[in-house]
Amino acid sequence: MSAEAFWRVYDGLPRAGPGSDACTREALRRLSPLPPSPRVLDLGCGPGKQTLVLARALDTVITAVDLHAPFLRQLEAAAAAEGLEHRVHTRSADFGALTDAPGTVDLLWSEGAIYHLGWAGGLARWRPLLRDGGAMALSECTWLTDAPTAELAAFWREAYPTMGTVASNCEAARRAGLSVVDTFVLPPEAWWDGHYGPLEARMEALAPRTSEVPGLAAVLDEARKEIALYRRHGDAYGYVFYLLRAA
Ligand SMILES: C[S@@+](CC[C@H](N)C(=O)[O-])C[C@H]1O[C@@H](n2cnc3c(N)ncnc32)[C@H](O)[C@@H]1O
Repeated sequence: MSAEAFWRVYDGLPRAGPGSDACTREALRRLSPLPPSPRVLDLGCGPGKQTLVLARALDTVITAVDLHAPFLRQLEAAAAAEGLEHRVHTRSADFGALTDAPGTVDLLWSEGAIYHLGWAGGLARWRPLLRDGGAMALSECTWLTDAPTAELAAFWREAYPTMGTVASNCEAARRAGLSVVDTFVLPPEAWWDGHYGPLEARMEALAPRTSEVPGLAAVLDEARKEIALYRRHGDAYGYVFYLLRAA
């Protein structure tokens, strides 16, 4: 896939995956209480909508980590526009190779990004960062059925072959030394208003311009298939927020 075509479609959108401010606030509420001025990392922050919710809610600095520099610039601009620049610190780094000292993080947040390491792989890398009693809030695409249709199984075998169920992900969390405080499934609005709505508007604007960027037609086609699949089968998989504490 052409990187230029990919970013032409996905750069500058409000979010880089399903989510909503209300879901971020709800996850935070379910994890409370937190210590005063907690040390917070937001891993795979993307454009940083959830970083801003955390920055508004918590009296502390949120360290927002991503490898894609334009996302970090987008977040910095949004934080400055809200007068929150003192609460948001961006860091360009690989979240699979963080150099933070073990046992120093009170709250590790990550929406829709742990799949880059795989659920169990991500937990294994990130769990040592938590202080005693520290918490994690992770959203992760998850099977909501044990019996997917053949079409769906084929799509996810390609896209995310190790995608778990709520039960298997909770079990993996416990094996990684985390207790499960709570879980909840993100509602359909988090997909449509948070992600696919703005993406479809972008796709419509780019559709007449596919000759301008090599590979753009293919990226648009993939996105159309992904959205159509969710429209047909959105009850069989979804994003789940996992609220975890160091056990
Ligand atoms: C699906 S997006 C989610 C972004 C954001 N949390 C949101 O919900 O809008 C995943 C993010 O992880 C970032 N990412 C992927 N691999 C990474 C890595 N190894 N280190 C840091 N960030 C990474 C991508 O650049 C992207 O911003």
